[in-house]
Amino acid sequence: MSNIADGDVLTLTEAARLIRVSDKTLGDMARTRRIPSQKVGREWRFLRSALETWLSGEDRPAPTSALVREAATQYELPLTGFRDTAFTENRNQALHRWVPWIAGFSGSFVEGVLNEFGGKHRRLRVLDPFAGVGTTLIESLRRGHEAVGFEINPYAAMACRAKVRVGNYDLDQFQTAIGRFDDFADEKLWLDEAPSFAPPPGFKSRVPFFSPSIERQVLACLDFIHHDTADWVKELFQIAFGAVMVSFSNYSYEPSLGTRAGAGKPNVEHADVVAVIKRKLNEMAEDIASFQEELSEHGDLPAAVVHPLSYLEHSDRLEPHSIDVLITSPPYLNNYHYIRNTRPHLFWLGMVQQTADLKEIECRSFGQFWQTVRTGPEVPLQPDLPHLADLIDELRGRHAEKGAYGGPGWANYAATYFNDCQRFCAQTRERMRSGGTVVAVIGNNILQGIEFKTDRLFAEIAEGEGFRCVRFHEVRSKRTGNSIVNSSVRSDAVTQRVKLYETAVELRAA
Ligand SMILES: C[S@@+](CC[C@H](N)C(=O)[O-])C[C@H]1O[C@@H](n2cnc3c(N)ncnc32)[C@H](O)[C@@H]1O
Repeated sequence: MSNIADGDVLTLTEAARLIRVSDKTLGDMARTRRIPSQKVGREWRFLRSALETWLSGEDRPAPTSALVREAATQYELPLTGFRDTAFTENRNQALHRWVPWIAGFSGSFVEGVLNEFGGKHRRLRVLDPFAGVGTTLIESLRRGHEAVGFEINPYAAMACRAKVRVGNYDLDQFQTAIGRFDDFADEKLWLDEAPSFAPPPGFKSRVPFFSPSIERQVLACLDFIHHDTADWVKELFQIAFGAVMVSFSNYSYEPSLGTRAGAGKPNVEHADVVAVIKRKLNEMAEDIASFQEELSEHGDLPAAVVHPLSYLEHSDRLEPHSIDVLITSPPYLNNYHYIRNTRPHLFWLGMVQQTADLKEIECRSFGQFWQTVRTGPEVPLQPDLPHLADLIDELRGRHAEKGAYGGPGWANYAATYFNDCQRFCAQTRERMRSGGTVVAVIGNNILQGIEFKTDRLFAEIAEGEGFRCVRFHEVRSKRTGNSIVNSSVRSDAVTQRVKLYETAVELRAA
């Protein structure tokens, strides 16, 4: 409450005067929760700033179905403990900082959700079907809950699995390996011997991914990693290498992976690769120590499982009605390409050998990608939502002359995406216990200048599959990543005018 300014808290009469209604009307609105308000003892109090936002209409949801409309009347400003979802906060937090992940959410967001759903007093079974690098799972374990995750990207899945196993690692053994890595750098790295490791043959890049002096060091480091360590240690070294490899390459994230030259940056000709990896390893060792200490307070360690698989195809690994809380952020309808953006990691760590391997993962990903579905016959929309069908038809008609590169291609992508939303909701309903809660963070999107309120549409689809939409929490009213929807193929003047937001959609398994 520290940032409430003097005069920001209003009585009923003051608030009624501000918005020019009678005391009685405002009292009725407060009682029926149609306006942001709090009861303090027997009296109502209002925040001037909340009233102003409400009055401006900026935060008003645009519900479409009757059920979603009912949920929307319970719309709350983010007072409920749900905090900003941005992953940025994770960059400085133990364990979360190991691997940055686009559109990951923050640890404190997950904490807020778990606190809200009674998790303080009993052990919950928490699921994240799109686990990314494990924010939900780590925060669940930290509070003594059981955690299950699915993640289709092999590099993210490896990071996720390594993090949930942190409690079992032998820190001394890891630190000894870091010491050996140091010795290797002193003794061997600069010898003339050619490393036995070779660049992955299937990996193609527009400009050399690493400059020559850097590539030589990288190959020597990968030699060390592959030959000199126990499996779990090797995995931690691979995660560290993956987390920093782009920083000494001729590519950068903007937020998609592109050449440094394309972003107006000079190539990286020289770098001390070992020093960069070692810094990451030391950070990881520090986090292992602190997390182990934290976990030791729980007595017995809660179970955590990570399936490096597509949830859509393998949700039956979970027993029916076994999940209490699901906290996730599925891929957005913005065509952010998780697979392409981790191509270097997947190839250089030997997780894929050829482009066809990437394609296979792409086709199993939630919503797929514009690149995988734009051609081919029209994809029919499966959810029975006439207004969504109309929107997709409108999209299909935009720049139709461009075929796969215009509306028809994007309409195929949107239909595939919403079909997967339906598949996801139907399968998830089977896995949730009755009364269980789903919190899915999802944002609106713009395709060919048409706005898709993905959060509302997702909620409507969920309601058709046995969920009740309880609330929409607007967790971020402005988000980054515009460049993804603004790229040349997709740009449209309208894009600039639509506000991008993120909502935590709260559903209850009916
Ligand atoms: C928005 S990110 C989630 C990030 C996560 N909340 C975190 O903090 O790290 C969505 C994730 O879903 C994964 N994904 C996409 N399709 C999937 C599928 N069918 N099954 C499992 N994971 C999938 C992507 O690889 C990506 O890591």
